[in-house]
Amino acid sequence: MAHSYEIKVELTKDSQLAKVDFNNLKFGQILSDHMLVADYDDGEWKEVKIVPYANLSLSPATSALHYGQAIFEGIKAYKFEDGRVSIFRPDRNFDRFNKSAVRLEMPEVPREIFMDGLKKLIDIDRSFVPPTTGASLYIRPFMFGTEPALGVHPSKSYKFVIITGPVGAYYNKPLRVKVETYFTRAAAGGVGFSKNAGNYALSLYPTRLAQDEGFDQLIWTDAKEHKYIEEAGTANLVFMLGDTLITPGSETVLQGVTRHSIMDLAKSWGIKTETRDVSVQELIEGIETGKVSEAFAAGTAATLTPISEIGYEGKIYKLSDPATREFSNKVLDYLNQLRYGKVEDPFGWNF
Ligand code: COI
Repeated sequence: MAHSYEIKVELTKDSQLAKVDFNNLKFGQILSDHMLVADYDDGEWKEVKIVPYANLSLSPATSALHYGQAIFEGIKAYKFEDGRVSIFRPDRNFDRFNKSAVRLEMPEVPREIFMDGLKKLIDIDRSFVPPTTGASLYIRPFMFGTEPALGVHPSKSYKFVIITGPVGAYYNKPLRVKVETYFTRAAAGGVGFSKNAGNYALSLYPTRLAQDEGFDQLIWTDAKEHKYIEEAGTANLVFMLGDTLITPGSETVLQGVTRHSIMDLAKSWGIKTETRDVSVQELIEGIETGKVSEAFAAGTAATLTPISEIGYEGKIYKLSDPATREFSNKVLDYLNQLRYGKVEDPFGWNF
């Protein structure tokens, strides 16, 4: 049964808006004036409030800090030319958030808190949505176990928080990526599909090793044989192989909203699409024979970032000049037009 939650609001007396340089935005460095905080305890969601952005006070025994019951989402809001603000497909992030919650044995967040809270928070901080094309308001909902207890068990209490901030591009150049053939991001039966904090922590060391070799990011491969392509960790992967747009379909891969939208758009334009296993060999042979004409990372933060080079077993495989890629440029341009309200929204993706 739908339950209504009163969202209490306390507005800031010390707005940071005037300090924001909307023409020079990086990723994730500026935070908006307010945040939503909801507390779960004794089996129910209690207080839901929007308050001035501030530090949280936590017990050093907070369970999430020890055992990693922590999940999050990434969503973006865009400003239309007429000043309206649109959030891109937040319903998908809401569903995925609760799938992550179930896998990490955390309570699901009710729609009335997640979606209504999101709407109210963005409305209050709408001046932080950048008016500039290429920029957006990044929305970060997250939840973590707050019980101060050192036994390994599901936390009895949780905090659900939404913070936001204006952002520019996550990647500002095409990516050089390395196919990882030793370290593993996720295995079947594990938590690869969920957006939990640990999936990102585990990527840092192998990614740094690749960065020491001059790469920007990793292409993770399957845990069993390291023969099949998975994802980039910060984004999904998509390839144009011959006349078909392909993305790895393993259960260990995060079900990205941007990737899904791009595959749907391609389908609606009559392009063949496949979500299936892609072997490293198929990819490398495809590059060598010229069959792979495009490769890119797709994600909320990354939007669509072209891949310029792939490193595999000590060799570098170069891809076409990103400026000449027909599909990538067309789909990014269309997605931008749709998200900034410059074209009709036939799919109902703008919320
Ligand atoms: C996003 O794309 O929103 C993510 O959460 C990825 C993160 C690495 C920034």
